[in-house]
Amino acid sequence: MSVSAALDASKTASIIADFPILARKTSRGKRLVYLDSAATSQKPNPVIDTLVQYYREYNANVHRGVYEIASRATDAFELSRAKVADFIGARSDELIWTRNTTEAINLVSASWGAANIRSGDAILLSELEHHSNLVPWQLLAERTGAHLRFIPVDERGLLVLDDLDRLLDGVKLVAITHVSNTLGTIVPLDRIIARAHAAGAVVLVDGAQGAPHLAVDVKALDADFYAMSGHKMLAPTGIGALYGKRELLDAMPPFLAGGDMIRRVEYRHTTFNDVPWKFEAGTGNIADAIGYGVACDYLANLDMTWVREHERRLSDYAFQRLAELEPRGLAIYGPRNASLVSGAISFNFADIHAHDLASILDTEGVCVRAGHHCTMPLMDKMGWAATARASFYVYNDERDVDALIDALEKAAVIFKL
Ligand SMILES: Cc1ncc(COP(=O)(O)O)c(C=O)c1O
Repeated sequence: MSVSAALDASKTASIIADFPILARKTSRGKRLVYLDSAATSQKPNPVIDTLVQYYREYNANVHRGVYEIASRATDAFELSRAKVADFIGARSDELIWTRNTTEAINLVSASWGAANIRSGDAILLSELEHHSNLVPWQLLAERTGAHLRFIPVDERGLLVLDDLDRLLDGVKLVAITHVSNTLGTIVPLDRIIARAHAAGAVVLVDGAQGAPHLAVDVKALDADFYAMSGHKMLAPTGIGALYGKRELLDAMPPFLAGGDMIRRVEYRHTTFNDVPWKFEAGTGNIADAIGYGVACDYLANLDMTWVREHERRLSDYAFQRLAELEPRGLAIYGPRNASLVSGAISFNFADIHAHDLASILDTEGVCVRAGHHCTMPLMDKMGWAATARASFYVYNDERDVDALIDALEKAAVIFKL
């Protein structure tokens, strides 16, 4: 083992110790081999402890109370906003709490979209998109008479950018994923964003799979909007965030209406609060928002450059090990190059249905996802009914890849491959 691989192994061992669920056994007495972080990540002790501490010590509504625990809750809630913003290179007054990426994208499509998209306008997406970054734009297009265009994906799962300038002609908005949740493809955002801006388009990035795995600097990227989900990056479920350039957010109408998003309300008229609170109607997800900041601290402390390198190394190892099963019918999808993918690998094994395969792996304690991964149009285009997907994160190591291969060997025996 090289010195850097040994250092990586010892760092990963100490990370694993922070995740209590990984010490548990399945009901069959197997070690839990969690390879489904693209669906949701596990949570480290500091995040879990933060939730318990909030409810035990200072549970109170934010922004309203003058008493001690209400001030403490407000301070922690707003400090956490600053931490999550800082994690992606943004300011806290540019970061709106949402429930998740899906809600963040819906906020932009309902608010910015209603104010800016007109009949005949074009919206450019890619063929890699998750339903969350497709269906909201379909609805907006139906409501406004706009139309959708798509950057094509090739058979390796890479975007074809040769025709980008033609595709961008007349486009008002580009909504594009940072990383494909199905194939792991890392999208070359810098090239797309620069050319989109040159064509006069606003760019929204679906960062659900980007922010957890890659060092993100929204200013360097020059993204206009960046949407993300806490639960995919060690934070609790039910909390996400939308970054937006301040001048865009200031000009946008509110999304949902009610308490907290107002400055003054009269019976027939309301003036709205400043950004970001203008977009946060009603009581927010206070404990989970505070937990999101702690998760970002945890990742920042690991160093996102290390996270990327760890996952690149692990993907490389997984590609090598999975290739051993190719003679027995294993098909690996997506770009088979660890430098081009981030943490997710899709595959099928001979003619075993992906759901059956996932069930067999489960008997060995190996958790993978099977199905269309909320990318039905991509599956249709590629001609796959379903795939199995193994996805990695900071707490996975080579043992987990080996466990996946051993479980696949078991499946091969059962199906006589
Ligand atoms: C690329 C991508 N976009 C959007 C989403 C939606 O995330 P959420 O369900 O947290 O809103 C996901 C979730 O898997 C995703 O992978």
